[in-house]
Amino acid sequence: MKFFVDSAEIDAIAELNETGMVDGVTTNPSLILKSGRDILEVTKEICDLVEGPVSAEVVATEADAMITEGRKLAKIANNIAVKVPLTWAGLKACKTLTDEGQMVNVTLCFSVNQALLAAKAGATFISPFIGRLDDINLDGMDLIADIRNVYDNYGFETEILAASIRSVNHIADSARIGADVITAPPSVLKKLADHPLTDKGLEAFLSDWAKTGQQIL
Ligand code: G3P
Repeated sequence: MKFFVDSAEIDAIAELNETGMVDGVTTNPSLILKSGRDILEVTKEICDLVEGPVSAEVVATEADAMITEGRKLAKIANNIAVKVPLTWAGLKACKTLTDEGQMVNVTLCFSVNQALLAAKAGATFISPFIGRLDDINLDGMDLIADIRNVYDNYGFETEILAASIRSVNHIADSARIGADVITAPPSVLKKLADHPLTDKGLEAFLSDWAKTGQQIL
């Protein structure tokens, strides 16, 4: 499974990238606002830092304008994945940009039928939003499982990019179901390594080591 960082904060992405765990990055207009940065500048910096796909989202709502914006974003770097919303206009833009050889991430997916349409439009990634379904008392993980099942039934190659992840449990469950990619905020990704028994065990080892009076270096 690939790990993407859902952020436009360069420092946070760089810190995680040092561990080798970062396979790509996803951004959206809200994350660009949070960063306080210019979209073209910050996206270029992210693309220089991370080898894998970096999603940059269009903000037009008509297909032709989405395509124009997508082509502009694609010029930032070779690893851009143009992100379009799951609307009819977005699906048309997805088809055109995909036919031009561009990676496309179709976002704001909340149903298996929407995921089918994205796959038919040739999307590189489909982004079902887990947390936002949980927020309205539905089960986001059920959607990931449904899409996995339906895509496998027909051999669709569109990668399932589980998004709107709020907890480490969402990540473990996405892996169990077989999502191709998860994208999560740095705060959630950093919790993946946490375990109280790791902390307790390390404390005991260091305490015993101090009693030996030895040094490695
Ligand atoms: O990349 C978009 C997605 O991950 C948004 O997450 O937490 O705003 O629902 P959230």
